[in-house]
Amino acid sequence: MRLLLTTSQGIEDLARAEVENLLSELGVPFRVEEKPLGVEGRLLAEVGEAYYTDGKGRKRELSVSTYLNERSRLLHRVIVEIASERFEGIGEEEPENALKRIEDFVKELPVERYVKVSESFAVRSFRKGEHKITSLDVSRTVGKAIFERLERFGRPKVNLDHPAVIFRAELIGEIFFLGIDTTGDSSLHKRPWRVYDHPAHLKASIANALIELANPDGGPFIDPFCGSGTIPIELALRGYTGEVTCLEKFRKHLYGAKMNALSAGVIDRINFILGDATKLSEHVESVDFAVSNLPYGIKIGRKSAIPKLYMDFFGELAEVLEKRGVFITTEKRAIEKAIGENGFKVIHHRLIGHGGLMVHTYIIE
Ligand SMILES: C[S@@+](CC[C@H](N)C(=O)[O-])C[C@H]1O[C@@H](n2cnc3c(N)ncnc32)[C@H](O)[C@@H]1O
Repeated sequence: MRLLLTTSQGIEDLARAEVENLLSELGVPFRVEEKPLGVEGRLLAEVGEAYYTDGKGRKRELSVSTYLNERSRLLHRVIVEIASERFEGIGEEEPENALKRIEDFVKELPVERYVKVSESFAVRSFRKGEHKITSLDVSRTVGKAIFERLERFGRPKVNLDHPAVIFRAELIGEIFFLGIDTTGDSSLHKRPWRVYDHPAHLKASIANALIELANPDGGPFIDPFCGSGTIPIELALRGYTGEVTCLEKFRKHLYGAKMNALSAGVIDRINFILGDATKLSEHVESVDFAVSNLPYGIKIGRKSAIPKLYMDFFGELAEVLEKRGVFITTEKRAIEKAIGENGFKVIHHRLIGHGGLMVHTYIIE
């Protein structure tokens, strides 16, 4: 079986390592490729059949897609591949021709293997790159081709709101992909524990990527701008045994973080402090790891305040940080100046896709 796995751009290597670890635990043969056909934010996993022994000692087939949906912390979707194809020049083609190519391709695919005629289906599409067609056009065309093929076997049922089977069609540049979305309509990064919705919250998948980059070893850990608590909550859910602190200046967000932690079942694992990160040393004596999604100018309104905020914060961080820090922000110039002038060294930099932007991420020591 081939699975198309989606995640954020820029963390494919970390997601791959996670998937490889999870698949190793199953003891099945597998191969995981990052950015298949050059597509960012995607992995392709070829996986052999997996089995488990049930309570009565019988050998049963294990659904690898369900297993990944349940266990992964970095993936967004798990999609069973039906087919992929490169459509050269599709970006320049007139809508009619581009859609005809997609329709002709889908018509020949054995979609009847994936949906029973008695089951309802819908097509959800994702499109990225330069095309003269929209994702809605892709959904309609693919839906029509699937419907007509299924008509050979009975009377197909479309249900756009609550389908039993979701086909996912992706057109990314010249690459077209069709599969069955086993994740459903809500991406895995939307965690069920989130009851308080911070206006600038971090995707849980990216929070886990930052935690992987920090690689905390059990020592004291802080998110000094913790907002709704995404990073501390995800760390606690990973079973971190060290001290975890969530510091936030605004009462409303800190209260929201507590509600989220309560809903995640980890409220007792996190210290919540209402306080200012530019006075960090008043709140904590020393920490081994600091990981945070820093306030961005555009999100907090007063962009001019950012350089001073970062300078003051990194000055305080220099007083308390023992091991490593990982920070993500759009404010490249301000963070690099604050890191450099406070005696830290950047040991790794990468760009991560978040909220439609490529955001700068630094590991510092
Ligand atoms: C980008 S948000 C963090 C979002 C968080 N990662 C989440 O997922 O909810 C930055 C947070 O920093 C807080 N903040 C701004 N200035 C602060 C300061 N001086 N000290 C502590 N927190 C501050 C803001 O209120 C905001 O909640």
